[in-house]
Amino acid sequence: MLRVVLVIVAVLMSVAMVGCTGSRGTGGENALPPGVNVELAEKGKQLFNTYACNTCHSVNGQAGIGPALNGIYGKQVKLEDGSTVTVDDAYLRESILNPDAKIVAGYPKGSMANLIQPFLPEIRKEENLSALVEYIKSLQ
Ligand code: HEC
Repeated sequence: MLRVVLVIVAVLMSVAMVGCTGSRGTGGENALPPGVNVELAEKGKQLFNTYACNTCHSVNGQAGIGPALNGIYGKQVKLEDGSTVTVDDAYLRESILNPDAKIVAGYPKGSMANLIQPFLPEIRKEENLSALVEYIKSLQ
Protein backbone atom coordinates (compact mmCIF):
# COMPACT_ATOMS: atom_id res chain seq x y z
CA MET A 1 0.00 0.00 0.00
CA LEU A 2 2.77 2.45 0.96
CA ARG A 3 4.50 1.65 -2.33
CA VAL A 4 1.39 2.57 -4.32
CA VAL A 5 1.04 5.86 -2.46
CA LEU A 6 4.72 6.66 -3.12
CA VAL A 7 4.32 5.97 -6.83
CA ILE A 8 1.26 8.23 -7.00
CA VAL A 9 3.11 11.02 -5.19
CA ALA A 10 6.06 10.65 -7.58
CA VAL A 11 3.77 10.86 -10.62
CA LEU A 12 1.97 13.93 -9.28
CA MET A 13 5.29 15.64 -8.56
CA SER A 14 6.60 15.07 -12.07
CA VAL A 15 3.34 16.35 -13.59
CA ALA A 16 3.63 19.50 -11.46
CA MET A 17 7.23 19.99 -12.61
CA VAL A 18 6.28 19.66 -16.27
CA GLY A 19 3.57 22.25 -15.65
CA CYS A 20 6.16 24.67 -14.34
CA THR A 21 8.47 24.48 -17.35
CA GLY A 22 5.44 24.72 -19.63
CA SER A 23 4.37 28.05 -18.21
CA ARG A 24 7.85 29.56 -18.55
CA GLY A 25 7.09 30.83 -22.07
CA THR A 26 5.84 34.26 -23.10
CA GLY A 27 2.21 33.97 -22.13
CA GLY A 28 1.69 30.26 -21.69
CA GLU A 29 3.05 28.90 -24.97
CA ASN A 30 5.44 25.97 -25.04
CA ALA A 31 8.71 26.10 -23.17
CA LEU A 32 11.17 28.48 -24.76
CA PRO A 33 14.17 27.20 -26.69
CA PRO A 34 17.43 27.56 -24.75
CA GLY A 35 19.26 30.85 -25.17
CA VAL A 36 16.15 33.01 -25.59
CA ASN A 37 16.06 36.10 -23.37
CA VAL A 38 12.60 35.80 -21.81
CA GLU A 39 12.33 39.44 -20.74
CA LEU A 40 13.36 40.76 -24.15
CA ALA A 41 10.97 38.36 -25.90
CA GLU A 42 8.14 39.54 -23.64
CA LYS A 43 8.86 43.15 -24.60
CA GLY A 44 8.93 42.11 -28.26
CA LYS A 45 5.56 40.46 -27.89
CA GLN A 46 4.05 43.75 -26.75
CA LEU A 47 5.73 45.69 -29.57
CA PHE A 48 4.45 43.10 -32.05
CA ASN A 49 0.93 44.25 -31.15
CA THR A 50 1.83 47.95 -30.84
CA TYR A 51 3.25 48.03 -34.38
CA ALA A 52 0.29 46.02 -35.73
CA CYS A 53 2.52 43.15 -36.88
CA ASN A 54 -0.17 40.82 -35.53
CA THR A 55 -2.72 42.07 -38.06
CA CYS A 56 -0.79 40.34 -40.86
CA HIS A 57 1.22 37.65 -39.05
CA SER A 58 -0.16 34.84 -36.96
CA VAL A 59 2.07 33.13 -34.42
CA ASN A 60 0.17 29.83 -34.54
CA GLY A 61 1.01 28.61 -38.03
CA GLN A 62 -1.98 30.10 -39.82
CA ALA A 63 -1.11 32.02 -42.97
CA GLY A 64 -2.48 35.55 -43.10
CA ILE A 65 -1.57 38.50 -45.31
CA GLY A 66 1.98 37.61 -44.28
CA PRO A 67 3.50 34.24 -43.36
CA ALA A 68 3.06 32.80 -39.86
CA LEU A 69 6.13 33.65 -37.80
CA ASN A 70 6.22 30.72 -35.38
CA GLY A 71 8.79 28.00 -35.92
CA ILE A 72 10.64 29.85 -38.69
CA TYR A 73 13.85 30.55 -36.78
CA GLY A 74 16.65 28.32 -38.04
CA LYS A 75 14.51 27.03 -40.91
CA GLN A 76 14.89 27.60 -44.65
CA VAL A 77 12.50 29.99 -46.34
CA LYS A 78 11.81 29.98 -50.06
CA LEU A 79 12.00 33.38 -51.70
CA GLU A 80 10.17 34.83 -54.67
CA ASP A 81 13.30 34.63 -56.88
CA GLY A 82 13.58 30.86 -56.30
CA SER A 83 16.48 31.04 -53.86
CA THR A 84 16.31 29.95 -50.22
CA VAL A 85 17.55 31.68 -47.11
CA THR A 86 18.11 30.44 -43.56
CA VAL A 87 16.17 32.41 -40.97
CA ASP A 88 18.75 33.86 -38.57
CA ASP A 89 19.04 37.16 -36.70
CA ALA A 90 20.39 39.00 -39.75
CA TYR A 91 17.53 37.79 -41.98
CA LEU A 92 14.90 38.72 -39.37
CA ARG A 93 16.37 42.18 -38.92
CA GLU A 94 16.46 42.78 -42.64
CA SER A 95 12.91 41.41 -43.08
CA ILE A 96 11.62 43.86 -40.48
CA LEU A 97 13.60 46.97 -41.43
CA ASN A 98 13.49 46.50 -45.18
CA PRO A 99 10.63 44.09 -45.96
CA ASP A 100 11.06 44.29 -49.73
CA ALA A 101 14.75 43.31 -49.67
CA LYS A 102 13.79 39.61 -49.73
CA ILE A 103 10.23 38.57 -50.62
CA VAL A 104 8.90 35.27 -49.27
CA ALA A 105 7.57 33.12 -52.14
CA GLY A 106 3.81 33.41 -52.55
CA TYR A 107 3.46 36.69 -50.64
CA PRO A 108 2.99 40.23 -51.91
CA LYS A 109 5.70 42.86 -52.07
CA GLY A 110 5.09 46.31 -50.61
CA SER A 111 2.22 45.72 -48.20
CA MET A 112 4.35 45.24 -45.09
CA ALA A 113 6.62 48.14 -46.03
CA ASN A 114 3.60 50.45 -46.39
CA LEU A 115 1.91 49.42 -43.17
CA ILE A 116 4.94 49.65 -40.89
CA GLN A 117 6.14 52.96 -42.37
CA PRO A 118 4.78 55.13 -39.52
CA PHE A 119 6.47 52.90 -36.92
CA LEU A 120 9.88 52.73 -38.61
CA PRO A 121 11.58 55.42 -36.50
CA GLU A 122 10.65 53.38 -33.40
CA ILE A 123 11.38 49.98 -34.96
CA ARG A 124 14.85 51.17 -36.04
CA LYS A 125 15.82 51.71 -32.39
CA GLU A 126 18.08 48.83 -31.39
CA GLU A 127 16.21 48.06 -28.16
CA ASN A 128 12.94 47.66 -30.07
CA LEU A 129 14.34 45.78 -33.06
CA SER A 130 16.22 43.29 -30.90
CA ALA A 131 13.06 42.72 -28.82
CA LEU A 132 11.00 41.94 -31.94
CA VAL A 133 13.70 39.55 -33.18
CA GLU A 134 13.89 37.84 -29.78
CA TYR A 135 10.10 37.42 -29.70
CA ILE A 136 10.07 35.77 -33.15
CA LYS A 137 12.94 33.50 -32.04
CA SER A 138 10.89 32.47 -29.00
CA LEU A 139 7.91 31.36 -31.10
CA GLN A 140 7.84 27.61 -31.54
C1 HEC B 1 0.34 44.70 -44.04
C2 HEC B 1 0.70 43.40 -43.50
C3 HEC B 1 1.99 43.28 -42.72
C4 HEC B 1 2.37 43.92 -41.55
C5 HEC B 1 1.60 45.01 -40.79
C6 HEC B 1 3.63 43.36 -41.17
N1 HEC B 1 4.01 42.40 -42.06
FE1 HEC B 1 5.69 41.26 -41.97
N2 HEC B 1 5.28 40.48 -43.79
C7 HEC B 1 4.13 40.73 -44.54
C8 HEC B 1 4.22 40.02 -45.80
C9 HEC B 1 3.18 40.05 -46.90
C10 HEC B 1 5.44 39.32 -45.79
C11 HEC B 1 6.01 38.41 -46.88
C12 HEC B 1 6.61 39.23 -48.01
C13 HEC B 1 7.98 39.69 -47.68
O1 HEC B 1 8.87 38.83 -47.53
O2 HEC B 1 8.18 40.89 -47.50
C14 HEC B 1 6.09 39.62 -44.50
C15 HEC B 1 7.30 39.10 -44.07
C16 HEC B 1 7.79 39.22 -42.79
C17 HEC B 1 8.93 38.48 -42.26
C18 HEC B 1 9.70 37.40 -42.99
C19 HEC B 1 8.93 36.11 -42.72
C20 HEC B 1 9.48 34.85 -43.34
O3 HEC B 1 8.75 33.82 -43.28
O4 HEC B 1 10.59 34.84 -43.86
C21 HEC B 1 9.10 38.89 -40.98
C22 HEC B 1 10.16 38.39 -39.99
C23 HEC B 1 8.09 39.89 -40.70
N3 HEC B 1 7.33 40.06 -41.82
C24 HEC B 1 7.97 40.54 -39.48
C25 HEC B 1 7.06 41.57 -39.27
C26 HEC B 1 7.07 42.42 -38.09
C27 HEC B 1 8.00 42.27 -36.89
C28 HEC B 1 6.07 43.34 -38.26
C29 HEC B 1 5.68 44.49 -37.35
C30 HEC B 1 6.76 45.46 -37.10
C31 HEC B 1 5.43 43.05 -39.54
N4 HEC B 1 6.08 41.99 -40.10
C32 HEC B 1 4.34 43.74 -40.04
C33 HEC B 1 3.07 41.51 -44.15
C34 HEC B 1 3.06 42.33 -43.03
